[in-house]
Amino acid sequence: MKKGLLQSALIISLLGAATSASQAEVRIQGAIDFRESIMTTFKWYMGPMGSMVKGRMPFDAELFKSRAEGLVKATRLDLAEGYPKGSVGDSEAKPEIWENWDEFEAKIQSLRDEAAKLQEVAATGDEAAIKAQFGETGKVCGSCHKQFRSKK
Ligand code: HEC
Repeated sequence: MKKGLLQSALIISLLGAATSASQAEVRIQGAIDFRESIMTTFKWYMGPMGSMVKGRMPFDAELFKSRAEGLVKATRLDLAEGYPKGSVGDSEAKPEIWENWDEFEAKIQSLRDEAAKLQEVAATGDEAAIKAQFGETGKVCGSCHKQFRSKK
């Protein structure tokens, strides 16, 4: 009887440990889902602007303005929150992110800055300046990916 109780206590505590481990995994997966959905949102706004810049779509100043505005709003989300320490999980995030956290955060900030500039320039309707600033914005995406995203 006593032994049985001890055994069930042990089983319960083991179950408890297993549950908390999987809860941590769930939290990591939640963070990954969060950051990847922000990335998908970035892509949603960048896509049509890129097509206009590359001439695959006629340049439409109003559409450009609204996409730039959407991008600015998306950059206000706290992307850093989606990268809890060591949360590589099943994602393309490189461990270098947490070894160079300040640099990673600086890139998040420079995306905010470049997107804000893009929104300002988009409001002027100056096509050449808009295209140039789109390039600057895209460079931030590219430089962060080059340094911190693994190719699977
Ligand atoms: C601060 C660094 C950083 C910036 C800036 C950044 N990305 Fe990313 N991006 C990443 C990392 C790291 C990944 C790998 C996926 C992850 O983190 O889970 C990624 C993944 C992605 C993905 C794939 C998402 C998926 O579901 O796997 C897309 C699309 C993407 N980024 C688009 C963009 C665009 C567009 C921009 C610019 C407007 C941008 N990113 C800016 C770091 C960044």
